[in-house]
Amino acid sequence: MVGKIHTAKAGSPDVVIPLVQMNALMGFVHDALIELIFSLPAPECRRVALARAFTKLLWIQGDLISRHYTPN
Ligand code: HEM
Repeated sequence: MVGKIHTAKAGSPDVVIPLVQMNALMGFVHDALIELIFSLPAPECRRVALARAFTKLLWIQGDLISRHYTPN
């Protein structure tokens, strides 16, 4: 739904955010999360595990967003 609402297919049909801006914000969010995770007072192995888990989650979210930008 988050992907769809940024296209003309949901929400306001006048709001059409290009995929490059969606990906840029996903990259910004990922960077902010990595910065936060590595500032946590947790053992190094826990912080690395958290960063790896969020990386996988964000890639799946990115895929779910981008599929609303393809013709089918
Ligand atoms: C990581 C990427 C992004 C996420 C996670 C995100 C998240 C959201 C969410 C949760 C909503 C509300 C959806 C709803 O009402 O059901 C929304 C709406 C909106 N977002 Fe984003 N957003 C992203 C990127 C962007 C970018 C890059 C722009 C503009 C440069 C943008 C502009 C808007 C606008 C104008 C709406 C209102 C759309 C409408 O009501 O038709 N978003 N976004």
